[in-house]
Amino acid sequence: MAKVHIATSVNGEAVEFLCNPSDTLLDVLRNELQLTGTKEGCSSGDCGACSITLDERLVCSCLVLAAEAEGSEIGTIEGVADKEQLHIIQQKFLEHAALQCGICTPGLVVSTQAMLKEMPNPTEQQARLFLAGNLCRCTGYDKIIRAVMDAAETMRASDNANKNASVSTSDRGGL
Ligand code: FES
Ligand code: FES
Repeated sequence: MAKVHIATSVNGEAVEFLCNPSDTLLDVLRNELQLTGTKEGCSSGDCGACSITLDERLVCSCLVLAAEAEGSEIGTIEGVADKEQLHIIQQKFLEHAALQCGICTPGLVVSTQAMLKEMPNPTEQQARLFLAGNLCRCTGYDKIIRAVMDAAETMRASDNANKNASVSTSDRGGL
């Protein structure tokens, strides 16, 4: 079968690959691009382990054909940390011991990041609802939700501190 040439960007870097028309984006990420942080659980859109963003929209990469990614911006767990510096969400998952086997964790982190972009101040119920598509079979959800709510609060505090810092800089004529 003829392969399809796809040009896309992954975590901000231009990436090209060849795939079969029937390959899922999950397969290509893991097997062609060696981005194995994105996990495969059910392969049927039920567990959320394969969560990524496609043009800033949260999707299950097991349900997206790789060929559909042409011209898109893909975000995976590998793009969440800032080089060696873990993202606040990742730090909070560690601090709250919100993982055991870790299979669900990349998907949960990517989904949490997507949620906090559109809803920076969720109630616990909203967070539980938003993340209901990310299943965890071993940690239990209380620690995960504690980590998510703590991350949300810490990120809001950090955003406010940055805003205040930029306001006081502009008060001084940008000096
Ligand atoms: S592997 Fe994609 S939703 Fe489970
Ligand atoms: S930590 Fe094992 S599935 Fe969530």
